[in-house]
Amino acid sequence: MKNKPYFFVIPIILLGTLGSCICYTKTSQTGLSLMGAAGTILIAAYVYLELYDYQQRLQELLHLQEASIGALVELAQMRDEEVTGRHLNRLPFYAQVLAEDLGLNPEFKENIVKTIALHDIGKVAVPDSILKKPGPLNREEWIRIRRHPLAGAAVLDAISEELDGSNRQVAEYLATAQEIALNHHEKWDGSGYPQGLEGRAIPLSARVAAVCDVYDSLRSTRPYKRGFSHEEAVEIIRSGRGTHFDPRLIDSFERLAGRFEAIWEKHGEQTR
Ligand SMILES: [Fe+2]
Ligand SMILES: [Fe+2]
Repeated sequence: MKNKPYFFVIPIILLGTLGSCICYTKTSQTGLSLMGAAGTILIAAYVYLELYDYQQRLQELLHLQEASIGALVELAQMRDEEVTGRHLNRLPFYAQVLAEDLGLNPEFKENIVKTIALHDIGKVAVPDSILKKPGPLNREEWIRIRRHPLAGAAVLDAISEELDGSNRQVAEYLATAQEIALNHHEKWDGSGYPQGLEGRAIPLSARVAAVCDVYDSLRSTRPYKRGFSHEEAVEIIRSGRGTHFDPRLIDSFERLAGRFEAIWEKHGEQTR
C-alpha cells in the first residue's frame, strides 16, 4: 500500500479520548498534511460520535453486570446475616492480607477479595430447617448441605453463560467466584468435597478462601457451636497443615495470625 499513489487520498483520522479529532491525508510517500475539507471533518466527527456512543453503552453494560453480581453478594449477605452474623463482611479483609503475603498478581488478588463473600451462595438452595438447625444434622441433612458448592457453581455458571464473555474483567471475576464456590470445602489431602480434589488440583483461589473461611468460622458463634479463641483457632488451623490446608498457605497464615486476630477484633461479632 505504501507505494501506491492512489492510497494517498485515503484520510487518516486520529481520534483522541478527550474529544479531539484530527484528519490527515498523505501528500507524498514521506509526509502528511492536515486536511481542511469540511466533508472529511464531518465524517471524522460522525465516526467519533459513534465510537463515543459505543463506549458509553459498553460502560453501561459493565455497570449493569457489576450491579447484578453485587446484588448476588447482597443476597448471600442477607441470608448469612441471620445465620452467621458478619462472617461475609470479614472474609475480604483476611483474603486481602493472605493474598498479599502470597504475592499474588493484583488482578487475581482483587478477584479473590471481591468474590470470597460468594463462597456459600449455593446455600440459598438449602432449606432454613437445615441451615438454622440448632442441633447436629442427620445423614440426609448432611447430604443436602454438602451439595451447596455444586449449587453455587451452577448459579455462577448460569450467569457466566448469560454474559457470554462480553467483558474480560467480569468473566475472570466470575470464573474466580465459581472456583471458590465449587472448591472451598476441598482439602489438601483429597478428603474434602464435592470432588475430593487433592493438592494443587484445588484452585489456589479456593485454597486461600478455605483458610480465611475456617479461621472466621472457628471464631464465630454458630447455632451449633461456641466461638473459639484466637489461640484455639490458630492451633486447629496449624494442625490441618498438609491435611486440610495447603502447607505454603499455613506458613503465610502463621506469619499473619496477628493480623487475622486484629481483623476479627475490629469487625467481629462484638461490633454488631
Ligand atoms: Fe461452604
Ligand atoms: Fe463461610
